[in-house]
Amino acid sequence: MDYKAILEDIKPTVDEKNHIDDVSCKLIQFLQKECDNSNLGAKVALVGSVAKNTALKGKSDIDIFIAFPLDTDKQFLKDMGLELAHKCCDEFKSNPEHHFASHPYVTTHIEGCEVDIVPCYAIEDGSQLKSAVDRTILHTRYVTEKLSESQQDEVLLLKRFMAMTGTYGSEFKVGGFAGYLCELLIIHYGNFENTLKAAINWKFGHIIDLESYGTSNQFKDPLIVIDPTDKNRNVGAALRLDKMAEFIQSARNFIFSDNKADYFYPIERNLNKLDLIQEFDKRNSDFIAIKFEIPNMPLDTLHPQLKKTTEALERKLNSEEFNVFKADYWSDEILNCIILLEMASSKLNNVKVNKGPKVFITQACENFAAKYGRENCYVDGDFLVHTQNREFVNAHDLVKHVLTKEHINLIKVGKNLKNNLINTYEFIELDEIDNLEFLDDFINPGQYIVR
Ligand code: UTP
Ligand code: MN
Repeated sequence: MDYKAILEDIKPTVDEKNHIDDVSCKLIQFLQKECDNSNLGAKVALVGSVAKNTALKGKSDIDIFIAFPLDTDKQFLKDMGLELAHKCCDEFKSNPEHHFASHPYVTTHIEGCEVDIVPCYAIEDGSQLKSAVDRTILHTRYVTEKLSESQQDEVLLLKRFMAMTGTYGSEFKVGGFAGYLCELLIIHYGNFENTLKAAINWKFGHIIDLESYGTSNQFKDPLIVIDPTDKNRNVGAALRLDKMAEFIQSARNFIFSDNKADYFYPIERNLNKLDLIQEFDKRNSDFIAIKFEIPNMPLDTLHPQLKKTTEALERKLNSEEFNVFKADYWSDEILNCIILLEMASSKLNNVKVNKGPKVFITQACENFAAKYGRENCYVDGDFLVHTQNREFVNAHDLVKHVLTKEHINLIKVGKNLKNNLINTYEFIELDEIDNLEFLDDFINPGQYIVR
């Protein structure tokens, strides 16, 4: 297939490139001068996709790292990193936002570009690692060395394909492929198409060991890509199994598709609430939608906790025999979250079977009979059982019961969400959910991976 037209759409224009080079140069010069004036011995470096020439059009975040000597005190590095970033924001009249990776860093917007300013240690080898971001400079160096100019385009195709099929991005919300992982795949397989052809046959635990370190047996992850800059690191560690699986299936769909170009563009959807609600109605399921306020917390903590909470509610409903068909959450990441639970039915009969021990275990059966009354017990197969009344015949009642201070510990809720969930939750109707993409994704979960 000819990718020229697609590359034209996804490659930064010459103007965009020049502008980004311009801004990054200015920032680096300024920061380096500040470092030199204070005799910090630190070296300012451009890293990330801009430095590697693998940034997609309109997606060029400028990643600037300030590398301090290895013997710098950790607290001093953190404080000085923030101070330098603030000076830079003052100089370029931008607004600093604080973020936390392994240590604090600053994000800001300067002349239309998103800029990350991150302090780290200047390491020469993965074994010297002192903070998680220290490898980044080594990554940039490795990719710049190994990735040919034409392969930079192949990385763009792979990143764009993944972005449009929903598997790009290592942030927790996605759990997909990091930019650096894409680059290593292209270095390994040569180009975009070969990467997809290979991925079709990946098995759980597939190993890619570019530098033949032979250290893969310490990892149990679904995809193991040994970091060429650190033999004890799996670059695929943040890739979730479901995202790896989605990538494999979308690769298959792509290879056998007659509409290959469509995989590089957003799916077309014309969403309207009435139609969506009708589709929900057609399923004849029972739904519970719970809306609550989220606390102010970093997104990489928020999303795992929302996921955990959703799964905990699903598990609780299932354990009480409400057959949950599908559960998902959505959040605006500022104020609210909605958890949506779909069940075959939210109402159950009044009775359930309480299963006791096998009849062959005399003492256990005697205890069971003593507890529930010998006259109430009967045999099902080779088990002693009895019929009892359900505590909850209505799923809403169960949720109400659980979402109280007294009973919340029956389920495993994200710890920062607990109070907000109990105090602010309300049941809402499906048509009160305003995010149509969320509703659409809920009933059409497969739409991203096939065109
Ligand atoms: P970015 O997330 O900005 O990645 O992290 P990127 O390579 O620039 O790709 P874009 O921005 O999505 O196009 C910057 C650098 O931080 C390291 C990598 O070295 C990356 O190049 N990093 C980031 C990781 O090692 N792992 C991660 O999960 C994220
Ligand atoms: Mn980046």
